[in-house]
Amino acid sequence: MTDRTSAFATYPSLEGQHAFVSGGASGLGREFVSQLAGQGSRVSFVDLDEASGRSLVAEIVERGDPEPVFSVVDVRNVPALVAAIDDAADRFGPVTVLVNNAANDSRHAVAEVDVELWDERMAVNIRHHFFAAQAVAPGMRKAGHGSIINLGSISAHIDLTDLPIYIAAKAGVEGLTRTLARELGGDGIRVNCVIPGWIMTQRQLTMWVGDAEREHIYRMQALPELLYPADVARMVLWLAAEDSRLCTGQTWVVDGGWE
Ligand SMILES: NC(=O)c1ccc[n+]([C@@H]2O[C@H](COP(=O)([O-])OP(=O)(O)OC[C@H]3O[C@@H](n4cnc5c(N)ncnc54)[C@H](O)[C@@H]3O)[C@@H](O)[C@H]2O)c1
Repeated sequence: MTDRTSAFATYPSLEGQHAFVSGGASGLGREFVSQLAGQGSRVSFVDLDEASGRSLVAEIVERGDPEPVFSVVDVRNVPALVAAIDDAADRFGPVTVLVNNAANDSRHAVAEVDVELWDERMAVNIRHHFFAAQAVAPGMRKAGHGSIINLGSISAHIDLTDLPIYIAAKAGVEGLTRTLARELGGDGIRVNCVIPGWIMTQRQLTMWVGDAEREHIYRMQALPELLYPADVARMVLWLAAEDSRLCTGQTWVVDGGWE
C-alpha cells in the first residue's frame, strides 16, 4: 500500500516568510517550527526549555533547512516577549506568520485556586496571545499581509474537570481570535484559532495517556486513530499560507471527530 502520509502539501507562499512561534521547543510547537522551516520559512521561536530549543535548531540545520533563531523567553514576561519579536524582525524582517502556542495545562482543583494562580495561568494561557499580536501587527500592516494563528483547545468544548483557569483562558482565545480578526482585517491580517483534540505529545503520553485513555479516545473519536502533532501542524501550515487567504475569524478543529 502507498504511504499516503508522504504526499502532504508544500506551500510555495511560505518560502522566505518570517514565522514566529511561542512555546516552540517541544510538543506541538516543536512540530510547527520544524514544519514551517521545512517549507522554507525563516522561523524564530521562544521557549523556557533551552536544551530542547537548541536540539531543535540543530536538527533543522542538520537536515539543510533554514536555521531558526531560538531564544529563552518566558511568555509571561510581556516586555521580554515583545523584545524577542522585535529582535527576530531585525534579523529576518517583519513577522508575517505568528503562532501563539505556548500554554500550561497543569491540573488545578477549584478549591486550590487563589488570585496569584489565576493571574499566572491567564498570563501563560491567553495574555501573551494578545501582546504578541499587538507587537507583530505594525510589521504585518507594512508587509500588506499576515496570518496569526492562536491555539485554542477542545477542553473548552467538552466536560473536563481540574482545569478551570486553563479552560476559561482557552475559551477566551476563541473570542480574542474573533475580535482581532475584525480589528486587523482591514490591514490584510488574518487571525484564526486552531482547536486541537487530544494530541499525543510526549507530555501527554508521559503524564496522562495509558491503555484506558487510549480506549476512551477510540470510543470518543469518529476516527479511531491517535492524533499526533504533525496532524495539527498541517492545519497550521494551511492557515499560514496564502491558500487560506480569505479565511479569518474562524476556529479550525483537528480532533478526529470527538463526540
Ligand atoms: N496536546 C494536546 O492534546 C492539546 C490539546 C488541546 C490544545 N492544545 C494546545 O496546543 C498548544 C501546544 O500544546 P502542547 O500539548 O504541545 O503543550 P506542551 O506543554 O507539550 O508544550 C508547551 C510548550 O510551551 C512551553 N512553555 C510553557 N510555558 C511557557 C512559558 N511561560 N514561556 C515560554 N514557553 C513556555 C513549554 O516549555 C513547551 O515547550 C497549547 O496551546 C495547548 O493548550 C494541546
